Amino acid sequence: MKSALSSLAALALALTFSGAALAADWEGGDATRGAKVFKKCQACHTVEKDGPNRVGPNLYNIMDRGIAAHADYNYSKGMKAFAATGAKWTEETLFQYLVKPSALVPGTNMSFAGLKKEGDRKDLLAYLETATGHQK
Ligand code: HEC
Repeated sequence: MKSALSSLAALALALTFSGAALAADWEGGDATRGAKVFKKCQACHTVEKDGPNRVGPNLYNIMDRGIAAHADYNYSKGMKAFAATGAKWTEETLFQYLVKPSALVPGTNMSFAGLKKEGDRKDLLAYLETATGHQK
């Protein structure tokens, strides 16, 4: 019984560690480098509070406001359908979306090929967290 318990504890520990490893996929980015990566987004997005919509919606508070939630922006059917699944914009969903937007959100009209480099996405997330006023 004792050994069964300790192997259970070992399993719980292993799960905790693999959870941490998963989270580390998008953690540890550099916001200064991320600001440079964001230049690729700037043609279509602003980040500051009450900033204007461009081709895409203003991204202020993006991680807390929900998907397709900017009141003055006309989202695609694809993005509205994604919002209707109950998904949220978190570090994790953004990390996936930004690899290839049309893969996570079929029918999105964000015509952006994606950021293939994991490092670029990490840095960008670090930047977005500060620049869009996200409170952890
Ligand atoms: C060519 C213009 C364009 C570029 C470049 C672009 N986007 Fe977008 N983005 C859009 C459009 C258009 C939408 C709205 C998509 C829809 O309704 O399907 C959007 C939507 C989004 C959303 C969802 C907004 C919401 O309110 O739910 C996020 C997040 C986002 N973009 C982030 C980025 C980031 C980060 C980059 C740079 C890596 C980027 N975009 C580059 C046009 C662009």
